[in-house]
Amino acid sequence: MDPLTVLGSLGLIPVLEVASPEVAADVTEALVGGGLPCAEITFRTPAAEAAIERVATRFPDVCVGAGTVLSTDQVDRAIGAGARYVVSPGFNPVVVERCLERSMPVIPGVCTPTEIEMALSRGIGTVKLFPAEAAGGVGYLRAIRAPYPSVLFVPTGGIDAANLVAYLTQPGVIACGGSWMAPKELIAARDFDAIRRRTAQAVALVAQARSGPRSATA
Ligand code: 3PG
Repeated sequence: MDPLTVLGSLGLIPVLEVASPEVAADVTEALVGGGLPCAEITFRTPAAEAAIERVATRFPDVCVGAGTVLSTDQVDRAIGAGARYVVSPGFNPVVVERCLERSMPVIPGVCTPTEIEMALSRGIGTVKLFPAEAAGGVGYLRAIRAPYPSVLFVPTGGIDAANLVAYLTQPGVIACGGSWMAPKELIAARDFDAIRRRTAQAVALVAQARSGPRSATA
């Protein structure tokens, strides 16, 4: 299945910052234990490439992607390591172009109408609204989406269990990203049980959001 379809069906993208492939595997096990077979491993640590490779090899059913991708070199390394999609915080034309050249699904970050239109002009219909909460939250999402009803959004930045349902029930939102399920502090403390519990809670909230009257993609 196309990775973006998988992410849309899961409704969540856990954003990870890991110091080693071993830790990445432990965190992924906790995510899977919580019911979420997906992980975005960010290029914020030197371990990212090896971590993606470890997770892709050890968990073939997990939809692993590369996050915080800022250069063409990182795109190439992510693909080589087995990432199935690329996420970036902003709309970097060079990064996007390399993903398109290599047929790599990409979710670029956007925060303005101009950036949404840059994505549309490249044929990209799914974007990460970042940083969602700081930019104005659900109200900002609704306003910025109005002219672009066909665009699919992955709001990310400042999302947690308290506001997840509010985002997921917005039209056009296919998933929410964030670090709250596996934050750096819990990873550093190796509290994988807490990560599993937070993940299970988020998965239950997705089910709750999708069982309501409004469809997430209506
Ligand atoms: C990201 O890289 O997607 C964000 O840093 C995640 O934002 P959060 O830490 O506020 O969830």
